Amino acid sequence: MNLFSPIIFRNLTLKNRIALSPMQQYSAKDGVPGNWHLVHLGSRAVGGAGLIITECTAVSPEGLATLSDVGIWNDEQQTAWKTIVDFVHEQGAKIGIQLWHAGTKGSLKHPNEGMKPLTTEEGGWALKSSSATEINGVISQELTVEEIQELKTEFVDAALRAVDAGFDTIELHAGHGYLFHQFYSAVINKRQDEYGGSLENRIRFLVETVQEIRNVIPDGMPLMVRISTVDYMETPEAWTLENSIELSKILKQNGVDLITASGGGFTNVSKDRVFPGYQVPFARAIKEQVGIATGAVGMITDANQANEIIVDDQADLVIIAREHLRDPYFALHAAKELEMDIEIPWQYKRAF
Ligand SMILES: Cc1cc2nc3c(=O)[nH]c(=O)nc-3n(C[C@H](O)[C@H](O)[C@H](O)COP(=O)(O)O)c2cc1C
Repeated sequence: MNLFSPIIFRNLTLKNRIALSPMQQYSAKDGVPGNWHLVHLGSRAVGGAGLIITECTAVSPEGLATLSDVGIWNDEQQTAWKTIVDFVHEQGAKIGIQLWHAGTKGSLKHPNEGMKPLTTEEGGWALKSSSATEINGVISQELTVEEIQELKTEFVDAALRAVDAGFDTIELHAGHGYLFHQFYSAVINKRQDEYGGSLENRIRFLVETVQEIRNVIPDGMPLMVRISTVDYMETPEAWTLENSIELSKILKQNGVDLITASGGGFTNVSKDRVFPGYQVPFARAIKEQVGIATGAVGMITDANQANEIIVDDQADLVIIAREHLRDPYFALHAAKELEMDIEIPWQYKRAF
């Protein structure tokens, strides 16, 4: 087994273990992915990654972080995604959509304008979260139980649209301080009802959403979840690896096929905690202790490093973000460096 060994999840076969990690491009209008997204995602498919994962894709307008994020809540967006899905498939790669709701981390200006809160005149909206919170001077209201039920329906509708658009897999974005994470981490969740308090209650929104999605998508379609394995905070409320192991067991029982072990989202991570492969031990711990496939992410930048993660069975996928921005052809280059024989796009064969 190595970086270029195929892997099967339900009815989905990936040709290798390299995935493009979701990366917001802040380049959409009205939530519709455009030419930039086609080229961004398409180039990494040409570049040999076995799995392309879209940037976080909102299930409703209120789920966006900025007005330049993508979504999948209407027909126009679904049709635009299908064009990208078809192109990725033509390259022999598979594609997953990362479904997402930003919760209290929404209603922000574009990064080029400093990501400050949007005013109402600029199109800003009222923020909601697990609990009433104040972040950067912006107040979010606590979601009612009825609104939580509606949110689950939005995720289900988005999942059905993703199936219709031809996506091969769905990943729920349950990390990085976004809405699901705002529920399962006690750093934000101060609710007193069945969605707050105990760990069982705090993970309820995510688990119920998983159950509802699993019920409507084809049995053969894998379901993945990206979590923040730890909060990288020292407070007693902080979410821990042990909590992630418990959550992953429950997600597995409910039909989740892969956990991507990311981290953080509520605070800046101190520099000494970030080094090559810094989150790989999380992927390994969840894989070993839960018996579920995992994706490793975070400062994986080198072919040998990526290969070792797979050869040593530390994770099942290596999920590469920024190195893929520097090198869309990371997988083709890795195969060359590791002297592995892989399919080169015929148009490019003379160069490899
Ligand atoms: C520009 C940019 C946008 C990102 N957007 C997302 C996103 O949409 N969803 C997500 O789960 N992570 C997102 N991330 C985090 C990456 O997927 C990844 O977890 C992180 O960058 C660490 O991996 P790396 O060291 O390979 O870059 C983003 C990262 C970058 C650099």
